[in-house]
Amino acid sequence: MAKIQSFILPIMDYQSVINRIHQEVLPLLKQGKVADYIPALARISPEKFGMAVCTVRGDFFTCGDAQERFSIQSISKVFTLAKVMESMGDTLWERVGREASGNKFNSLVQLEYENGRPRNPFINAGAMVVTDCIVLENPNPLNCLVDFVRDCANNPLLEYDLEVAASEKATGHRNAALAHFLKSYGNLANEVEKVLDVYYHQCALAMSCTDLARAFLFLAYGGIDPINGKLVCGPRQAKRINALMQTCGLYDEGGEFAYRVGLPGKSGVGGGIVAVMPGELAIAVWSPGLNDAGNSLAGTMALELFTTYTAKSIF
Ligand code: DON
Repeated sequence: MAKIQSFILPIMDYQSVINRIHQEVLPLLKQGKVADYIPALARISPEKFGMAVCTVRGDFFTCGDAQERFSIQSISKVFTLAKVMESMGDTLWERVGREASGNKFNSLVQLEYENGRPRNPFINAGAMVVTDCIVLENPNPLNCLVDFVRDCANNPLLEYDLEVAASEKATGHRNAALAHFLKSYGNLANEVEKVLDVYYHQCALAMSCTDLARAFLFLAYGGIDPINGKLVCGPRQAKRINALMQTCGLYDEGGEFAYRVGLPGKSGVGGGIVAVMPGELAIAVWSPGLNDAGNSLAGTMALELFTTYTAKSIF
């Protein structure tokens, strides 16, 4: 009997764990490079660091700048995908694939030799196809999207950062090229300008680590919000979204992230990363300095330390 009891893990003291991680990653904060291809992001201090854990029981643990809002950028692609997956059904997958791209998130070449069908819904071209579906389905896609994210995060105050959206629009020649390319292959139903406008706004959603950890909780609980019991997308779609995050959520660094962190996750060039431990928790981290793959350098390390110290990993 005594032997069996020794295998029961103690209740995890997440607060101590993330406080310790915060101290340990401080030396890394200056090593990454803040994204500057979107001018409004270039002025964010690389010294920022925040972390938030939200458990399926509704307990929150936070440290550092966890309450400060930042630009979620590509993390938004999980929300748009969750929004359209059920309604589009399998027709979505005729227009976008489900494989890792092995290329940069804004690569043009792959889109050409694969005839305008993006590899997955998280690279920029794939996300534009998903956004096109939202525009098709909704007369006011921006309201629909922000309402969905506010519901997931249980925060009615969330907004688009209009300055960031305008800044990316003014300099987004590569995204415009991708969108025109998609259109030339017949893979955008709406006008390029309209799709890009929604896409830039979704990327410019401003959320904190606390908002993000709360908003991703449905993916740790079979598509249901465990705190209020609302159905967000159902267990089948949640399983699929987690699988896509695992394989494609960190772009060309998916293998490395799986090896080091061992959780499905999604990054953004604003320096945020969200990860999900099914059945247990969602965790968000923010550190604006990026590595060469465009993912948060200290953020990845923080998540690696978290899964190491807590032994919470899907592997
Ligand atoms: O379209 C872009 O380039 C940005 N709005 C989003 C890219 C991004 O966040 C990639 N993530 N690591």
